[in-house]
Amino acid sequence: MSPDETMSPSPADGVDRSHPAGPAATPPSPDDVRRILQGVSDPELHASIVDLGMVRDVSVTAGGAVAVHVALTTAGCPLRTQIRQDVESKVRGLPGVADVRVEYGEMTGDEKRDLMARARWEGRRRAPETEIAATTRVLAVASGKGGVGKSSVTVNLATALAARGLTVGVLDADIWGFSVPRMLGVEGRLGGADGKIRPHEVEVPPTGGRGPGGLVKVVSMGFLVDDEDTALMWRGLVLSKAVEQFLTDVAWGELDYLLVDMPPGTGDVQMALARLLPSTEVLVVTTPALAAQRVAARVADMARRSYLKVTGVVENLSSFVAPDGSHHAIFGEGGGAALARDVGVPLLGRIPIEPAVSTGGDAGIPVVRSDPLGPAGTAFREIAARIAEELLPPVEMSGCTARILELAGSTPSPSPGPPRPD
Ligand SMILES: Nc1ncnc2c1ncn2[C@@H]1O[C@H](COP(=O)(O)OP(=O)(O)OP(=O)(O)O)[C@@H](O)[C@H]1O
Ligand SMILES: [Mg+2]
Repeated sequence: MSPDETMSPSPADGVDRSHPAGPAATPPSPDDVRRILQGVSDPELHASIVDLGMVRDVSVTAGGAVAVHVALTTAGCPLRTQIRQDVESKVRGLPGVADVRVEYGEMTGDEKRDLMARARWEGRRRAPETEIAATTRVLAVASGKGGVGKSSVTVNLATALAARGLTVGVLDADIWGFSVPRMLGVEGRLGGADGKIRPHEVEVPPTGGRGPGGLVKVVSMGFLVDDEDTALMWRGLVLSKAVEQFLTDVAWGELDYLLVDMPPGTGDVQMALARLLPSTEVLVVTTPALAAQRVAARVADMARRSYLKVTGVVENLSSFVAPDGSHHAIFGEGGGAALARDVGVPLLGRIPIEPAVSTGGDAGIPVVRSDPLGPAGTAFREIAARIAEELLPPVEMSGCTARILELAGSTPSPSPGPPRPD
């Protein structure tokens, strides 16, 4: 047994695969629950289930048991599973929640007509309309301080998700450390057509050569500025405007995921994301050093104040695994687990220190491609699997078109006016 294993908490690799109930925090208010549910979209109607009036009732007990009553258009719609999973997942992300129950009801004819009016109203009101579909899962990769491996985590997770046959957008919003294009091996100015910017594309073959490959689409702040001195002149507000533009003016196409490499230190970009894409979730990258966790916890705190769910913690630069199999905790240990515990979210994985991560980044081929079965490649692929299979799975759209047709058929007049107030 390696020295690291003997010191690890249970399970042996120290990675928490459960959903922690969270620390003994005060339960959220029904308003808090509604605010976080703002981030659950109806994938067909492209608007929040709260704005659409589908959240009929929210109750929270003193013990933190949350019940959400969702009114569906048709009780049998396959989308109900998707909506329930999203509601449960978002609510569980709030501190102080011990249990979540989702109850369904079916809308009356009047309610359905009202819903369609709201859907149209929301469609017009939401300005500016982004190019990111309601079916795209958005994950912001953030850290308390620079140099912890945020960009390495972003490009490797994006590549590992694409290797599963998915289409993944990467928005490099870190103006102070735009390294994503180099790490993914793309360069040159972005082209455009029809007034929209076209992202760079990287085809990703499937790991092990089985199944379909996927695609990574990249846009970077680095394409806007020539050097870091120019970057220093940017301020939070300008930066968040640029991010807004990348969300509205880039022809992203259909994406399963959008990963955003976040700039450290400013809340403006996060607030812009929360406003434009309220379904955004946040992944916090940290190092194993216990002393580093206070700044990292601040990031999680900031996310929650914008009502963004914190999906989990990734610890990078964990023990170095020597060729003889021994583990060496060069940057300390326990930081990821401690942060995850404090914030009340799962520790999704620990990426070991491995020269291949850095050489892969320099060569423009992320380690999940250059050495998928090595310790770091494996750790990244396991985190991607957990995201895609459990925590934030791609939105399944099959079998619901009948519902749209039915809804269209049940709308009597083309212009029913603005929605009734609650
Ligand atoms: N697990 C790892 N093993 C070895 N080297 C790593 C690992 N993770 C990151 N690195 C290296 O550490 C350096 C910093 O990583 P990266 O650029 O991903 O961090 P960052 O948090 O995005 O930094 P910045 O704040 O500058 O944007 C890079 O040279 C990268 O190759
Ligand atoms: Mg970076």
